[in-house]
Amino acid sequence: MAITFEVLHKDIAGRVGRLRVNEKTVRTPALLPVVNPHLPLVTPREMQEMGVEALITNAYIFRRSTEYHDRALEEGLHKVLDFDGAIMTDSGSFQLSVYGEVEVSNQDTLEFQQAIGSDIIVPLDIPTPPDAGRERAERELAVTMERLREARELFPDANLAGPVQGGIFTDLREEAGRAVQDLDLAFCPIGAVVPLMENYRYRELVEVVLAAKRGLSPATAVHLFGAGHPSMFALAVAMGCDLFDSAAYALFAREGRYITPHGSFKIDELAELPCPCRVCRSMTADELRKSGDRERLLALHNLYVSLAEIARIRQAIQDGTLWELVDERCRSHPRLLDGYRELLAHTADLERDDAVSKRRFFYRGSESCRRTEVLRFHEVIGRISVGERVLVSFDGNGAPGFDTVLNFKPPFGPYPTELAETFPVGQSEVPEWDDDMVRSGCAGIRALMEAHPESRFAVRCGEDWVRLIQEEVPGAEVLYEQV
Ligand code: GUN
Ligand code: ZN
Repeated sequence: MAITFEVLHKDIAGRVGRLRVNEKTVRTPALLPVVNPHLPLVTPREMQEMGVEALITNAYIFRRSTEYHDRALEEGLHKVLDFDGAIMTDSGSFQLSVYGEVEVSNQDTLEFQQAIGSDIIVPLDIPTPPDAGRERAERELAVTMERLREARELFPDANLAGPVQGGIFTDLREEAGRAVQDLDLAFCPIGAVVPLMENYRYRELVEVVLAAKRGLSPATAVHLFGAGHPSMFALAVAMGCDLFDSAAYALFAREGRYITPHGSFKIDELAELPCPCRVCRSMTADELRKSGDRERLLALHNLYVSLAEIARIRQAIQDGTLWELVDERCRSHPRLLDGYRELLAHTADLERDDAVSKRRFFYRGSESCRRTEVLRFHEVIGRISVGERVLVSFDGNGAPGFDTVLNFKPPFGPYPTELAETFPVGQSEVPEWDDDMVRSGCAGIRALMEAHPESRFAVRCGEDWVRLIQEEVPGAEVLYEQV
């Protein structure tokens, strides 16, 4: 038995991969729907028919269930649930975080999860809530790590997941990531983020996830525990999360909420069902509202849109258009935009994992200036060779007396004609130039000047840009034609 993870395509820190557990293959990013055997709004069999390759259920529920405890032990989870994809079990730690205590030990739950035939087992980690102080976060992390080591020793061959805890303390998260990595685990969930997501604390979510990722190896499959809503999947994948588990499809349905990739609606608010899924195309909003089967139909729809979003993300990674998707999704809520901006503050970390060439770069406003491709361009632009007198020409026209004439494309900067067809210059679409993108392009000019201190630089532009260039590139002469 083993868990292996193979990365097939990359974009930002996101990846399309292949997770293999006990002969079952899961394409990632993947959404593992949460299955409660007592209230199966959508059955695992139906999920499988919808393309679900893995699901998650709670061992704690099976352990305490008069109906399912014995059957699970005798027949195994796959038979009881009627699902032959990969099944991950959670330990009861989530109940621990909600109800304060659980009547199960680490060893008990690990033994039970294996006895019922789980493909991925989770120790009894402690989800430290975000409002916990540092001391508590450290103490609980130490317990989690102790339990993980115990799990490793008791069951060296088990398909063990290694949860990363640490509360909201980024140094603890990073340390936890490294410590979990030292146990050589191929599958690591990032824990205790549900309260952050429930309260729209996406900026902190981005901080703790990126911190955990810094500690983990890029070869590790990363699961984001308890996420959630499809509007944040793209952001989470961009940070390098590969798997999600979601009860949201069912929880939202119970509350009469209709999920879309950019937010959710009360079903009572909807006059239309703006979705191509089977449910939404077979009835009107009014029929759905009044249906006796409303909760189940809503759950089905919610699951369809969540799975479709995951497929869209996998496609975006293969196309190299994940930034565009993240940008689009994160504009659906101001707090998601905060999370996106926090992600952009870590571009230097993300750039190392990003793909070298992509299908396109669409400029979508000032946030685009902080994308990985722009940073990378500024890092490599110094390598082009230039003569003693260099002209950066905004309009493509030369001028007498220069050894080198370069073109200019914001938000990247100066480039020689040989690079005109290569990524990102050749595959980028920008609207009419604005100040932000030209300032970003000027950072490219500065990077080039720093790499060639022996050369003299001039910029040729229209009169409108003169002041901005004088501000941004004070060391260059500015040539312009007065109109
Ligand atoms: N479900 C949601 N968050 C968590 C967590 O931190 N740990 C475990 N085991 N399950 C979770
Ligand atoms: Zn639908």
